[in-house]
Amino acid sequence: MVNGEDTILVTGGAGFIGSNFIRYMLRKYENVSIVNYDKLSYGSNLENLKDIKERYVFVKGDIADEKHVEEVIKRHKINKIVNFAAETHVDRSISEPLSFVKTNVDGVATLLEMVRKYDLRIVHISTDEVYGDIIEGSFSESDKLSPSSPYSASKAAGDLLVKSYVRTYGVDACITRSSNNYGPYQFPEKLIPKTIIRALKELKIPIYGSGKQVRDWLYVEDNCAGIDTVLRAGKKGEIYNIAAGEERENIWIVKEILKHLGKSEELIEHVEDRPGHDVRYSITTDRLRALGWKPERRIEDGLKSTVEWYVKNEWWWKPLVNDKVLHPTPWKLRW
Ligand SMILES: NC(=O)c1ccc[n+]([C@@H]2O[C@H](COP(=O)([O-])OP(=O)(O)OC[C@H]3O[C@@H](n4cnc5c(N)ncnc54)[C@H](O)[C@@H]3O)[C@@H](O)[C@H]2O)c1
Repeated sequence: MVNGEDTILVTGGAGFIGSNFIRYMLRKYENVSIVNYDKLSYGSNLENLKDIKERYVFVKGDIADEKHVEEVIKRHKINKIVNFAAETHVDRSISEPLSFVKTNVDGVATLLEMVRKYDLRIVHISTDEVYGDIIEGSFSESDKLSPSSPYSASKAAGDLLVKSYVRTYGVDACITRSSNNYGPYQFPEKLIPKTIIRALKELKIPIYGSGKQVRDWLYVEDNCAGIDTVLRAGKKGEIYNIAAGEERENIWIVKEILKHLGKSEELIEHVEDRPGHDVRYSITTDRLRALGWKPERRIEDGLKSTVEWYVKNEWWWKPLVNDKVLHPTPWKLRW
């Protein structure tokens, strides 16, 4: 049962970053308890947390279900929320945009109503994709939003709702916008785990277009530390970008993984690009660094330990390896 000094509702805690965050917080603080509230939709996996037994409880539910969210907040005496719950797969948002609006917009509005009613603190997890892509330079938190996909547009709408609740009702909310995360427990359809798994199976590695798209790779635990910093010390109403400054082309990432696994680059296969594919994301992080945070992992190091984790933990990914990982086709044929 949950009985710590801070009882945090972690929404979307059965996903990749949320489950890493729960592990991070329970390891770091003895007086924190966590209620993991997750709909168990696409990309979730309770196996991520199967060894966590103390100061932790799981509740299955939808963040857009106001009655249920309210009941859970009252029952567990929640005083903080960290909202990871989201539909997150960009390709999927192209074929099924409406489910993205339901969770990433309506769901956020429901949580904000709870924050307003029960005077809670919330950290809302957003993404650097809300700024759109940038050829040169980097976006700061005050730059305009210019999302490219239904995924990033729905995340931008959620952010605007958070800002409006701070301004209109004075709620205690912060937003984090991180760059691409990688690390343990990432669903096998994403670039890094998919590349590792396919390479282990000696299957071709599909790369969208030229593979020259640039992403700034953040080790998931560095993101968790950043979110914790914002939860503790973030200023009400403020947005905090989180990135490690480790910009690499996708093709570089794939080649590095093949190198770690001792596999041939001949496995790489270029496939038709995704429509509206962003060329490069880049953000500044001075605001979060001013609160004392800095990333600990360089990409070379983080990638090496991620490859090692997937090699050692086949029990985790094997049941998740489906057709989309084993027979990837261009986006429009998938769903
Ligand atoms: N993965 C990245 O690189 C990255 C980068 C920047 C920002 N983000 C943001 O971080 C957050 C977490 O991303 P992730 O990669 O861990 O995603 P994920 O898809 O692994 O996890 C999302 C979780 O949310 C849950 N969920 C979905 N809809 C829900 C609903 N209506 N109610 C309750 N739970 C629901 C899912 O079941 C899943 O467990 C998202 O908000 C995402 O936009 C992710």
